[in-house]
Amino acid sequence: MAFSVENGILTIDGVRFDEITRITGTPVYVTSYNKLKENIEAYKKAFPKQKILYAVKANFNLAILKIISKEGFGADVFSAGELYLALLAGFPPEKILFNGNSKSDWEIEMGIKAGVSFSVDSLDELYAISEVASKFGKEVTIAFRVNPDVSPETHPKISTGLKTSKFGIPKDEVIEAYRKAVELPNVIPKGIHCHIGSQILDASPFVEALNKIFDLVAELKEEGINLEFIDLGGGPGIDYDGKGALTPEEFSKAILPVFEEKKAKMNPDIELELEPGRSIVGNTTVLLAGVNSVKRAYKNFVNVDAGFNLLIRPAMYGSYHRVAVANKMDREGEETYTVAGPICESGDILAEDRKLPKVEKGDVIAIFDAGAYGFVMSSQYNGRPRCAEVLVKDGEIHVIREKEDFNDIVGKQKIPEFLFE
Ligand code: LLP
Repeated sequence: MAFSVENGILTIDGVRFDEITRITGTPVYVTSYNKLKENIEAYKKAFPKQKILYAVKANFNLAILKIISKEGFGADVFSAGELYLALLAGFPPEKILFNGNSKSDWEIEMGIKAGVSFSVDSLDELYAISEVASKFGKEVTIAFRVNPDVSPETHPKISTGLKTSKFGIPKDEVIEAYRKAVELPNVIPKGIHCHIGSQILDASPFVEALNKIFDLVAELKEEGINLEFIDLGGGPGIDYDGKGALTPEEFSKAILPVFEEKKAKMNPDIELELEPGRSIVGNTTVLLAGVNSVKRAYKNFVNVDAGFNLLIRPAMYGSYHRVAVANKMDREGEETYTVAGPICESGDILAEDRKLPKVEKGDVIAIFDAGAYGFVMSSQYNGRPRCAEVLVKDGEIHVIREKEDFNDIVGKQKIPEFLFE
């Protein structure tokens, strides 16, 4: 078991949490290698023939990326910075897809020089890629990102395939985009891409999107454009609150039969690609936050040393994360507490009205399922250096990111000369 309890103490891959905090202090993000490996294996088993491009945005710690690249997965990157990290972690360029609705010309140039494929989000971007590719004498594989207009049941801020979303080319206009691409030099339209949203627990919107994509594949075929891959994006949800997840196995059972049937009928050479992020890293990681004080006000507040500076999901999306007292795991819930961060904003609440054992100063609160969109969305707001990240494997503690200090808050800032006069 990746996360278990021994004598009332939370352990991660066999290591007591307080052995970790003794080294790093709190707050700290702790990732279980075993859990990550388990999630990777689940995807390999569910999708043995498909190309899995891990969505780097979900967690781009280099050690995590290295583990995933060594497993043979590819990468979905959304910026030049993510591309840089993916290359550094050893993802081969031919397994990298450069996504994004607003790529700068210099980012396009970097991607083309590296030899990655592109998901193209607008005609302006198509022209830019063709121009830069021609300048460097490179041929670039592209897929258009299509907006399939399907509405998954998830938080509106992470629903990306609606008509009104900023992502993708409307499905009625995408055929024309392929026609243009065929005429342009140095771009080869080989794929079609969509991503309908994130934390989706029901497979039916994926099936709907896949059917719509196949309709486009058929239309393109009639025009003599034979695509080689469909990239259905990421999005399967994890079990944050005990209501279940969309597991790789369930996801695969829902979409593969549809894919195989259409493929056999329409285009026996077309392949399926996926871009999961959250479902690979989400449940691998716990954020440990130290209790600074417990305040009985109109509510019972547990004031901890991590807030939305380190985990913004509850504040940004009202997301639910399970919490527990890491040093009192065997005690029953006694009182209702609201776990508050140290940031000067009333919205800085990590968990609201949770039944926990009696909490005292010095306890440690574990915030679970923080591996996806956790550290990567952190900030230094209120002048708080970011915390460390740790990987635990076979009873060993590896610091995979040192905690920041005040020099990191100063960063690259400069005071102009005239202010010293
Ligand atoms: N592919 C594309 C093009 C994406 O935009 C995303 C996520 C993924 C793949 C990976 O999706 P996943 O499998 O992780 O659901 N910060 C939000 C989630 C934003 C997702 C953005 N795009 C959160 O904390 O819930």
